[in-house]
Amino acid sequence: MSKNIEIEQLGAAVLRMTAVPVENVKSPKLGEVIEEMLDILSDSKGVGLAAPQIGHSIQVLAVASKPTSRYPNAPLMEPIVMINPVFQPLTQEQERDWEGCLSIPGIRALIPRYRKIIVDYTDMTGTLVTLELTGFVARVFQHEYDHLQGMVYLDRVENNRDIISETEFFKLLALQKSLLHA
Ligand code: NI
Repeated sequence: MSKNIEIEQLGAAVLRMTAVPVENVKSPKLGEVIEEMLDILSDSKGVGLAAPQIGHSIQVLAVASKPTSRYPNAPLMEPIVMINPVFQPLTQEQERDWEGCLSIPGIRALIPRYRKIIVDYTDMTGTLVTLELTGFVARVFQHEYDHLQGMVYLDRVENNRDIISETEFFKLLALQKSLLHA
């Protein structure tokens, strides 16, 4: 069972800091941080998390897409922990879709993201990994990567009218679902 770890909320200074690269992937302290991150992801309805969100300004993120009530259309995958990640868009093509953040509860916004990216990161064993990501998973990665640069998704909103409450978001989802099955 996970300890009661608090998720840093918008306004916390750590969410606005540029995270520092991890030098020793084998450090026990890093292992603890990663374990906490994975615990939170399995206990919450989040699909990704960055270390600054639990108060550690280091370049570590986890992508853990799964269908939940927060993201009913998310694909299911094993969580991937990425240390010192970097990425390049594979095409300039962007798409807009809804995002939310455990550090900014209660709201959603439409955010443009690259549709197809290539990611390089170090895994927990110290191996360099290159991975191509598309669609929702690419979106989750770019959202978490922003956290490592001291950014949050609201910084990328194109128009304030693209921000809605979570309650309205769920109404929208229910409406889409009923249209699909009509
Ligand atoms: Ni977030």
